[in-house]
Amino acid sequence: MRLDVVTLFPDWFDWFSSQRHVANALAAGHELRTLDLREHTPLSGGQVDDTPFGGGAGMVLRVDVMDAALRAFYEGADPVDLRHQRRVLALTPGGRLLDDRLVDELAQEPDITLLCGRYEGFDERIVEHFAGDAVSIGRYVLAGGELAAMVVCDAVMRKLPGALGHRESALEESFSSALEGQPEYPQYTRPAEYRGWKVPDVLLSGHHEEIRSWRRERSRERGGISG
Ligand code: ADE
Repeated sequence: MRLDVVTLFPDWFDWFSSQRHVANALAAGHELRTLDLREHTPLSGGQVDDTPFGGGAGMVLRVDVMDAALRAFYEGADPVDLRHQRRVLALTPGGRLLDDRLVDELAQEPDITLLCGRYEGFDERIVEHFAGDAVSIGRYVLAGGELAAMVVCDAVMRKLPGALGHRESALEESFSSALEGQPEYPQYTRPAEYRGWKVPDVLLSGHHEEIRSWRRERSRERGGISG
């Protein structure tokens, strides 16, 4: 998979790329590239945003700046066509909420471009004409889309073959089909008793079938499914 992030803060992704499962995915041949909006702006002084028409606080990322940056990065291709060639997502608080289904969908894509907004976000024409989807990581507002882009990359990359070690298989994790889309069951480790708090007996019993069924029940309980 090739993941490209369009951002004003490409340095932030150096740290992110060094995290183990991301580094594993990169070592396995997946790519994470950043595109610095400020490097490609046609405006003087590195300007990338402007005050909103109609008034209001904050600054809005300009559509002409995004157009120029995407054209420069994708070798002159019109960004309007780009979203037909690769998945282009604009990160914005009001977008489609990221969930495991969307993550699974994205993990199947060969090429993804993530557009990060800043301050008051994007000129809406960026979302309308350059992005295929708007994606939100939650109904709250971050200072910019970078952390949201990392959340998307993190969730998607850990689904890629080779990203997780053997011991961290993503098969039976929260929201997986192995758990019928429910949250993961509670996990315990040594000591079996601490300050009087005991690990459920069944987990120490060695009865695999009982353990499986106990876990399935707890997982369904957490997901609000009764019976
Ligand atoms: N940019 C700012 N806040 C965001 C959010 N909650 N989700 C996605 N992008 C964002």
